[in-house]
Amino acid sequence: MIIGIPKETLAGENRVAMLPEEIKRLTSEQLSFVVESGAGEGAHFKDDDYANGGAEIVSDVYFNSDIIVRINPPSNEELDKLREESALISLLAPFTNHGLVKNLAQKNISSFCLELIPRTTYAQSMDVLSSQATVAGYKAVLNAAEQLSKFFPMLMTPAGTIKPAKVLVLGAGVAGLQAIATASRLGAKVEAFDVRPAAREQVESLGAKFLYMDLDDSAETESGYAIEMDEEFIRKEMELLHEASKKVDAVITTALIFGKKAPILLKDYMVNDMQSGSVIIDLAAENGGNCELTKPGEVIHHNGVIIDGRLNLSSQVSQHASQMLSKNIAKLLTDLLKEGELTFDTENEITKGCLVTHKGEIIHKMTKNIIEGESK
Ligand code: NAI
Repeated sequence: MIIGIPKETLAGENRVAMLPEEIKRLTSEQLSFVVESGAGEGAHFKDDDYANGGAEIVSDVYFNSDIIVRINPPSNEELDKLREESALISLLAPFTNHGLVKNLAQKNISSFCLELIPRTTYAQSMDVLSSQATVAGYKAVLNAAEQLSKFFPMLMTPAGTIKPAKVLVLGAGVAGLQAIATASRLGAKVEAFDVRPAAREQVESLGAKFLYMDLDDSAETESGYAIEMDEEFIRKEMELLHEASKKVDAVITTALIFGKKAPILLKDYMVNDMQSGSVIIDLAAENGGNCELTKPGEVIHHNGVIIDGRLNLSSQVSQHASQMLSKNIAKLLTDLLKEGELTFDTENEITKGCLVTHKGEIIHKMTKNIIEGESK
C-alpha cells in the first residue's frame, strides 16, 4: 500500500498533512509513503527530512498512490489526477461541495472526510476540527493584539498606569476557549458568551467573565454542538452584545452552527457604536462571518474599527498546526488500516462516521440526503 502526500495548492496554505516523524513511525513492509517535492516547505520541513523519515520524494504523488492524504479538498485538476478505485483522506466540506462528492463517487474513489470524524472521546486524537480550532483561536488573539493600538496587559510604569485591554469572545467552543486562555495570558480582561449552558463553567474556569443571559439546556445537541437559536433569542443576544461591544477593545467571534451559515451576532449599527481603534477578528468568516460587515479573506476598516475576516488562520502557525494535523491523521490511519490494508468496516465508528463515497456510491447518509434534497 502506497500513501501519497501532495503539496497543498490552496492559495495561502502553508500546512502539510503529515510530518516526517509520523511517516517514519508508520512505514512498514506493507506501507510506504511518497511525498511531493516541496510539500513540507511552508511548514519548514525539507524534502531531506521526509527522505530521512523513509519517504520517497516524487514530482507527482497521484499516479501510483493507493491512498492520497491531504488537507484541503482537491481542485478539479487534482480530482482528475486521483486514480480510479483509490482512496482519499481530506477535508471535503461535503454539505456544500456537492459536485466534488458526486465526482468522487463517479470515479469510484473511497473518500474519508476529515470534518466528519465523530466527535467522541475515542476519536478525540483524530479530531482535526478541534486541533485546528485550537490553533486558530490562539492566532486570532495575536492578530487582535497586533492590530490594536493598545497594550493587552496592565502596565505600571513611571510614565503612568496602562489599563489592560478588554476582549470579548463570542462562542466558547474549542477556538473560543483557546482565545480566552491566550488573551488572559497576555493580560487582557476577558468576557465571553455562548448559547450552550455548559460553556459558562468552562469560561469561568479560565478566569473570564461569562455575560449573563437566560440559557436553555436544549441549546445543545447530544453531541455537544449548539443548535440554531430562534429569532427572539438572537435579538436578545444582540442587545446584550451591543452593550458589551461598546466597552471592549477587541471582539473575537467564533460562533458556528454545524453544517449551517454562521449566525450574525454583530450588526452594522453595533459596529458603529464600538470605540474607534477597536478590532474584530471574525473566525467565523469561513462560514460567512458573525459580523454583518465582515468580508471573508479581507481586513477592512469601518468607522475606525478594524474588521479582520482573514481565512485559514491555522495556516499562519503552519509548523505546529501541521504537527497536530499529522498526529490526528496518523491516528486515523492506524484505525483504518489492518495489516497494511484499508478495512472499510462499516461497523467501525470512525469509518461509519466519515466514509462519504465508496464503491461508486455516496454512502454517508446525511451527505446523501442533503445532495439528493438539492437535486429535487
Ligand atoms: P463550533 O465550532 O461548531 O461552534 C463554536 C461555538 O459557537 C460553540 O461553542 C457554539 O455553542 C457557539 N455558538 C453557536 N451559536 C452561537 C450564538 N448564537 N451565540 C454564541 N455562541 C454560539 O463548536 P466546536 O468548538 O467545534 O465545539 C463545540 C462543542 O462540541 C464543544 O465544546 C464540545 O462540547 C463538543 N466537542 C466534543 C468533542 C469530543 O468529545 N471529542 C471534540 C470537540 C467538540
